[in-house]
Amino acid sequence: MRSLIDVTDFSVDELYSLIHTANDIIENPKKYAEACKGKKLATLFFEPSTRTRLSFEAAMLELGGSVLGFSEASSSSAAKGESIADTAKVVSCYADIIAMRSPIEGAALVASQNASVPVINAGDGGHCHPTQTLADLLTIYREKGGFDNLTIGYCGDLKYGRTVHSLLGAMSRYKNVKAVLISPKELSLPDYVKHDVLEKSGMEYQETASLEDAIPSLDVLYMTRIQRERFDDKDEYERLKDSYVLTVQKLQSAKENMCILHPLPRVNEISVKVDDDRRACYFKQALYGKYMRMALILKLLDEANANAVREDRFADKDIIYDTHKCSNPKCACASQQELRHACKRSENGILRCVYCDKEVR
Ligand code: NCD
Repeated sequence: MRSLIDVTDFSVDELYSLIHTANDIIENPKKYAEACKGKKLATLFFEPSTRTRLSFEAAMLELGGSVLGFSEASSSSAAKGESIADTAKVVSCYADIIAMRSPIEGAALVASQNASVPVINAGDGGHCHPTQTLADLLTIYREKGGFDNLTIGYCGDLKYGRTVHSLLGAMSRYKNVKAVLISPKELSLPDYVKHDVLEKSGMEYQETASLEDAIPSLDVLYMTRIQRERFDDKDEYERLKDSYVLTVQKLQSAKENMCILHPLPRVNEISVKVDDDRRACYFKQALYGKYMRMALILKLLDEANANAVREDRFADKDIIYDTHKCSNPKCACASQQELRHACKRSENGILRCVYCDKEVR
């Protein structure tokens, strides 16, 4: 059974194929109107969401399928203490495919190991958000014609911003791509992404705190919200929340064809006046997310039909069990009692938790 937990679960060719399907859906929507007739998508959202949940639901409805689920943790049995594993087993009895969002890092991975239907990670804490990356990729592809040779600026909360972690993972596989990481020091990219994604792939990158300095060199500017809900220290959030605001004036030094992305919701990072600039692509990006989710649902349901073999990341012989404990309080290991601590040595020798990718000692 194939699931989507991390964007690099799919090869570069598979991602192109999803882009191709999404473009075909845009051109010929009628052709797909009954493609998922009789199939059900469960949306299990343990964290707030507008775009991701509604675009998943719209995607399934436009494919002729139906949807069931909940949008608040308090209305599910998780509030009574049900484990992710049990929830996944139970929902597999009612639905053909699951989209899950949780504040727990590694939650979708745990669900996929226990569900008998495909699981899609719709965001797991500050870790990753692969379907937002699918929306980002389709937008970049349609605006820029491809992915090679692009300089992309990632601006804002690079520490907790899961969309950035996933997009960097995807971009690390294209040629001559550069990353400009724009954040205050306190919100810089976590080491595991820096070492295991950027350095491992050899992607050229630079770090700066100044959006103004970075802007002239960029082909794409990826703005992000400061992730208030992930801060342990609320005073720090107050201090950092307005670190970057993209204004019409700052855009004057940008390339004429720079593309401005934002996974949304925006709070204050982009002035509404920028919406009228033709470089603003973030609402288009939200629309494209629906088409990529349609392509993704089609792919995973097709594969589930064709091949009943279970994908098991834990069959990897290099996984080390129980000797090292993950100390990330937001990791699935911390809340799911039945899980064994599991880690793996990355190429640079650091031991990382299999669920949340944080270093373990
Ligand atoms: C993002 C998320 O949830 O991580 N939003 C989304 O899914 N479109 C970004 C955010 O919440 O800031």
